[in-house]
Amino acid sequence: MTERYPIEAYADASEAARAAAEAIADWLVAGLAEDDRASFVATGGSTPGEVYDLLSTLPLPWEQISVTLSDERWVAPDQPESNARLLRERLLVGAAAAANFVPLWSDLASAEDAAEAAEAVIAELLPTDVVLLGMGEDGHIASLFPGSPVLEEGLDPLGGSLVIAAPKGDPAPPQDRLSLTLYALRQSYLILVLIRGEAKRRVIEEGAGLPIHALLDAAGETPVRILWSPS
Ligand code: 6PG
Repeated sequence: MTERYPIEAYADASEAARAAAEAIADWLVAGLAEDDRASFVATGGSTPGEVYDLLSTLPLPWEQISVTLSDERWVAPDQPESNARLLRERLLVGAAAAANFVPLWSDLASAEDAAEAAEAVIAELLPTDVVLLGMGEDGHIASLFPGSPVLEEGLDPLGGSLVIAAPKGDPAPPQDRLSLTLYALRQSYLILVLIRGEAKRRVIEEGAGLPIHALLDAAGETPVRILWSPS
């Protein structure tokens, strides 16, 4: 029987992080063979830190690379919860500090205003060369949470906005967020989903109709690699 969604299993989180960093670097280099700029959509959460540590040490022409985020928490960029801060501390260091960071957050009155402002800058980056995503145990990707009032818009694979404001509160975290939509995420040459633990593997294999499945089903021509490690 063919697997519904093939999952690449790695012995541990470090091996999976290494595979992710290598794939991201390869795709950026391939993008730069075709164009004078390449782009990487990074993600937040606790899983990708090691990927960023490895990536930042690779000898890439960082000044030709733009880096943005799959999603962002509606907090100032110096706050511990900020994904921009995670990138500044783990990826955009050393030679990689020369990359052009394109934030989703901006100093505006609301997440809705910031999403609207980010729309044009994200449009300029599309199609991106490579997207890295994590996934929650509820099947969310980026800040596209099951049960969210903006989920339908966020998961429309064919059009609409590129960036949306995702309101806080159950079932989403207690904090407004900004998120790329599925429509924006899928406009890439490679999507990587990096996950740890049996529970997340089971969500992909045994669950149905969650944001992760919407992504996997809508990817079309875009290869999606799911990189998994047990812990
Ligand atoms: C974020 C994310 C989010 C994350 C998942 C998995 O900023 O929180 O982009 O989608 O990738 O929640 O998070 P963990 O890696 O911490 O499990």
